[in-house]
Amino acid sequence: MNPLLSEAIKTRLQAHAPYSKFMVGAAIRDDQGQIYGGCNVENASYGATICAERTAVVRMVGQSGARKITEVVVVTDGASGHTPCGICRQVLTEFSADPKKTLVHIANTQKILKTFTLEDLLPESFKL
Ligand code: THU
Repeated sequence: MNPLLSEAIKTRLQAHAPYSKFMVGAAIRDDQGQIYGGCNVENASYGATICAERTAVVRMVGQSGARKITEVVVVTDGASGHTPCGICRQVLTEFSADPKKTLVHIANTQKILKTFTLEDLLPESFKL
Protein backbone atom coordinates (compact mmCIF):
# COMPACT_ATOMS: atom_id res chain seq x y z
CA MET A 1 0.00 0.00 0.00
CA ASN A 2 1.02 3.63 -0.57
CA PRO A 3 3.20 4.48 2.49
CA LEU A 4 1.49 7.85 2.98
CA LEU A 5 -1.89 6.12 3.16
CA SER A 6 -0.65 3.41 5.50
CA GLU A 7 0.83 6.02 7.86
CA ALA A 8 -2.51 7.89 7.96
CA ILE A 9 -4.44 4.67 8.58
CA LYS A 10 -2.04 3.69 11.39
CA THR A 11 -2.00 7.10 13.07
CA ARG A 12 -5.81 7.40 12.87
CA LEU A 13 -5.97 4.59 15.41
CA GLN A 14 -4.30 6.93 17.96
CA ALA A 15 -7.14 9.48 17.66
CA HIS A 16 -8.42 10.91 20.94
CA ALA A 17 -12.07 11.34 19.96
CA PRO A 18 -14.22 10.50 23.00
CA TYR A 19 -16.70 13.32 22.24
CA SER A 20 -17.40 12.99 18.51
CA LYS A 21 -16.27 9.35 18.19
CA PHE A 22 -15.09 10.46 14.73
CA MET A 23 -11.55 9.27 14.18
CA VAL A 24 -9.41 11.05 11.61
CA GLY A 25 -5.91 10.18 10.40
CA ALA A 26 -3.69 12.32 8.24
CA ALA A 27 -0.24 11.98 6.79
CA ILE A 28 1.91 14.53 5.00
CA ARG A 29 5.07 14.17 2.96
CA ASP A 30 7.75 16.87 2.99
CA ASP A 31 10.02 17.86 0.12
CA GLN A 32 12.71 15.48 1.44
CA GLY A 33 10.32 12.52 1.26
CA GLN A 34 9.81 12.29 5.03
CA ILE A 35 6.34 11.27 6.20
CA TYR A 36 4.55 12.53 9.33
CA GLY A 37 1.27 11.16 10.65
CA GLY A 38 -1.36 12.95 12.70
CA CYS A 39 -4.68 12.19 14.37
CA ASN A 40 -7.42 14.36 15.85
CA VAL A 41 -6.95 15.20 19.52
CA GLU A 42 -10.20 16.33 21.12
CA ASN A 43 -10.76 18.20 24.35
CA ALA A 44 -13.64 18.57 26.82
CA SER A 45 -13.46 22.25 25.89
CA TYR A 46 -14.49 21.41 22.33
CA GLY A 47 -12.86 24.43 20.69
CA ALA A 48 -9.47 23.24 21.95
CA THR A 49 -9.68 20.20 19.64
CA ILE A 50 -6.86 19.80 17.13
CA CYS A 51 -7.58 18.19 13.77
CA ALA A 52 -5.50 15.33 12.38
CA GLU A 53 -4.07 17.44 9.55
CA ARG A 54 -2.76 20.11 11.91
CA THR A 55 -1.32 17.50 14.26
CA ALA A 56 0.72 16.18 11.32
CA VAL A 57 1.91 19.69 10.40
CA VAL A 58 2.99 20.40 13.97
CA ARG A 59 4.94 17.14 14.05
CA MET A 60 6.72 18.02 10.80
CA VAL A 61 7.71 21.49 11.97
CA GLY A 62 8.73 20.42 15.47
CA GLN A 63 10.56 17.23 14.56
CA SER A 64 12.54 18.15 11.50
CA GLY A 65 12.14 21.83 10.81
CA ALA A 66 10.80 20.96 7.34
CA ARG A 67 8.52 23.59 5.87
CA LYS A 68 7.40 22.25 2.49
CA ILE A 69 4.54 19.78 2.11
CA THR A 70 4.24 18.00 -1.23
CA GLU A 71 1.45 15.48 -0.56
CA VAL A 72 -1.34 14.89 1.97
CA VAL A 73 -3.70 12.02 2.79
CA VAL A 74 -6.78 12.34 5.02
CA VAL A 75 -8.38 9.09 6.20
CA THR A 76 -11.81 8.63 7.74
CA ASP A 77 -14.10 5.65 7.95
CA GLY A 78 -16.93 5.26 5.44
CA ALA A 79 -17.59 5.09 1.74
CA SER A 80 -17.24 8.70 0.61
CA GLY A 81 -14.36 10.26 2.59
CA HIS A 82 -14.04 13.72 4.16
CA THR A 83 -12.12 16.74 2.93
CA PRO A 84 -10.10 18.89 5.40
CA CYS A 85 -11.88 21.65 7.32
CA GLY A 86 -11.28 25.29 6.45
CA ILE A 87 -8.70 25.96 9.17
CA CYS A 88 -6.69 22.89 8.11
CA ARG A 89 -6.79 24.00 4.47
CA GLN A 90 -5.28 27.32 5.51
CA VAL A 91 -2.60 25.68 7.68
CA LEU A 92 -1.67 23.15 4.98
CA THR A 93 -1.40 26.01 2.48
CA GLU A 94 1.01 27.88 4.78
CA PHE A 95 3.41 24.93 4.50
CA SER A 96 2.69 23.77 0.96
CA ALA A 97 5.63 23.55 -1.45
CA ASP A 98 3.22 24.76 -4.16
CA PRO A 99 -0.57 24.68 -3.60
CA LYS A 100 -1.13 24.15 -7.33
CA LYS A 101 0.93 20.94 -7.17
CA THR A 102 0.44 19.67 -3.61
CA LEU A 103 -1.98 16.74 -3.87
CA VAL A 104 -4.57 16.09 -1.17
CA HIS A 105 -5.88 12.52 -1.28
CA ILE A 106 -9.17 11.74 0.45
CA ALA A 107 -9.27 8.14 1.61
CA ASN A 108 -11.05 5.61 3.74
CA THR A 109 -9.32 2.80 5.58
CA GLN A 110 -9.09 0.77 2.35
CA LYS A 111 -8.09 3.11 -0.44
CA ILE A 112 -7.80 6.61 -1.88
CA LEU A 113 -11.21 7.79 -3.08
CA LYS A 114 -10.56 11.25 -4.56
CA THR A 115 -7.64 13.56 -5.16
CA PHE A 116 -7.54 17.36 -5.26
CA THR A 117 -4.81 19.94 -5.35
CA LEU A 118 -4.57 22.19 -2.30
CA GLU A 119 -5.35 25.10 -4.61
CA ASP A 120 -8.62 23.34 -5.60
CA LEU A 121 -9.57 23.10 -1.92
CA LEU A 122 -8.53 26.63 -0.94
CA PRO A 123 -8.35 29.05 -3.84
CA GLU A 124 -7.36 32.64 -2.99
CA SER A 125 -5.94 31.64 0.40
CA PHE A 126 -5.11 34.33 2.94
CA LYS A 127 -1.50 35.49 2.78
CA LEU A 128 0.51 38.25 4.44
N1 THU B 1 -11.53 16.75 12.24
C1 THU B 1 -10.29 16.52 11.75
O1 THU B 1 -9.46 15.86 12.38
N2 THU B 1 -9.96 17.05 10.55
C2 THU B 1 -10.80 17.84 9.79
O2 THU B 1 -10.38 18.33 8.76
C3 THU B 1 -12.17 18.06 10.24
C4 THU B 1 -12.54 17.51 11.55
C5 THU B 1 -11.89 16.19 13.55
C6 THU B 1 -12.10 17.20 14.62
C7 THU B 1 -13.02 16.46 15.57
O3 THU B 1 -12.21 15.71 16.46
C8 THU B 1 -13.79 15.51 14.69
O4 THU B 1 -13.09 15.47 13.45
C9 THU B 1 -15.22 15.92 14.45
O5 THU B 1 -15.30 17.21 13.99
